[in-house]
Amino acid sequence: MDFSPLNVALAVAVVAVAAAIRRLFHSRLPPGPRPWPVIGNLYDIKPVRFRCFAEWAAKYGPIMSVWFGTTLNVVISSSELAREVLKDKDQLLADRPRSRSAARFSRDGTDLIWADYGPHYVKVRKVCNLELFSAKRLEALRPIREDEVTAMVDSIFRQVKPADMLGKNVVVVRDHLSGVAFNNITRLAFGKRFVNSGGELDEQGTEFKAIVANGLKFGASLSVAEYISWLRWMFPLDEEAYAKHGARRDRLTRAIMEEHSQARKKGGAGQHFVDALLTLREKYNLSEDTIIGLLWDMITAGMDTTVISVEWAMAELVKNPRVQKKAQEELDRVIGTDRVMTESDFPNLPYLQCVVKESFRLHPPTPLMLPHKAAANVKIGGYDVPKGSNIHVNVWAIARDPELWENPLEYRPERFEEENIDIRGHDFRVLPFGAGRRVCPGAQLGINLVQSMLGHLLHHFEWSVPDGMRADEVDMVENPGMVSFMRTPLRAVAAVRLPAHLYNRVPADL
Ligand code: HEM
Repeated sequence: MDFSPLNVALAVAVVAVAAAIRRLFHSRLPPGPRPWPVIGNLYDIKPVRFRCFAEWAAKYGPIMSVWFGTTLNVVISSSELAREVLKDKDQLLADRPRSRSAARFSRDGTDLIWADYGPHYVKVRKVCNLELFSAKRLEALRPIREDEVTAMVDSIFRQVKPADMLGKNVVVVRDHLSGVAFNNITRLAFGKRFVNSGGELDEQGTEFKAIVANGLKFGASLSVAEYISWLRWMFPLDEEAYAKHGARRDRLTRAIMEEHSQARKKGGAGQHFVDALLTLREKYNLSEDTIIGLLWDMITAGMDTTVISVEWAMAELVKNPRVQKKAQEELDRVIGTDRVMTESDFPNLPYLQCVVKESFRLHPPTPLMLPHKAAANVKIGGYDVPKGSNIHVNVWAIARDPELWENPLEYRPERFEEENIDIRGHDFRVLPFGAGRRVCPGAQLGINLVQSMLGHLLHHFEWSVPDGMRADEVDMVENPGMVSFMRTPLRAVAAVRLPAHLYNRVPADL
């Protein structure tokens, strides 16, 4: 017998491959559409993934195998299995799959969003839960939210005046929401309003926007090789471009951090995240990469999600005048017509809260949440899910499941009056923020902002479809992508409801 190193290596490889094949055949993977060699199901997946997965789930069941190239993706579409994934077996399913691009941006998960579950994650998450998103800080940052919401009202008012033009003043709703989301998040994270009252971006703001746009471009340029590991060598990433992007982002963030450090030395520490992180740096042993990563995570996770939530809610309210009128009657009753709403009014506006919940139910901004990854072999719903598989929970499909919801496609906020349901990850029928260890840390902040934006939009204006358009012609389909923007930006007519002096921005500085 020849025991040369080559033969020994070959024998070991054969045994390993045989063992892997045996494991694969003996395991009971979830059912799913038949995969093609190499590409798996990639070319069968329709662009709006969560809708496609919901259609497939009707055929293959609430737990499905979908192959993205050589990577197994398990898609969950029932409330019961969502509980198993996000509660019972949460710890084993709380890692994150990182594309090569996400790996570069997050410096291999030294941030929060892309970190695997482990000591680093636990530490950074603690910083978020105890410090950044504490009830106290949320309250301290409230003036920023209220300032930006009044700025939104102001910008719409300027567009819809004069009153004799009413009925013709069509507003592209998203244009006015984006400003609030942008200014709110940059002020919250960086303590900066990059936009002056005339709507002009300053130099840092221009650089900031360019970095965000560049980041999106990288994300969009990923090829099918992302999913087929052995093909990657044929599609190398443009490392230089990534390095340049990273350096640019670091340069801007460091400059802002330096400004805050100087202000702190003069006793001017604020409540913004950058201040908090600089103060807590030693206590939690946070590296500079982690601080920069966290600040940018907030931008990535907190900006579009708010815009998407409010735009969909407005689309529903334009289509459902009954609900709009009922919410406005509540606002008039509680607030009246000689002052504007504030967050302290929330407890007295239960119907508005139901409108927000119903909108999140039908239109979760991240319909497949963010992907999770199995850290070990796990059984879900009795099927084998091998270590390294990606897990997606189709929260969009669960929130429309006719087994759980009466007339699920009907927009009816009253369903939340009839039953008190917590949408922050405690009820597995409606999970816009996920649940469990990785539940969105910004959930309360997001709800407050969405509620405040909607409350102001409804109190200050009456909304209707543009002349010549029927309510059922509003395009209620999503754009493809990880987040669910409306495919066609909502256009609606805004008519003034309150005295003119209530439409001015009320600036606040922190
Ligand atoms: C308003 C709407 C929002 C929605 C619907 C939303 C939804 C989500 C969802 C579904 C996840 C993934 C949960 C999982 O993987 O299981 C997530 C994660 C996250 N969200 Fe939000 N989010 C919103 C707003 C915000 C805001 C305003 C911020 C911060 C300013 C934020 C920060 C984050 C972060 C940092 C993560 C990553 C958490 C982790 O990986 O541990 N989100 N969000």
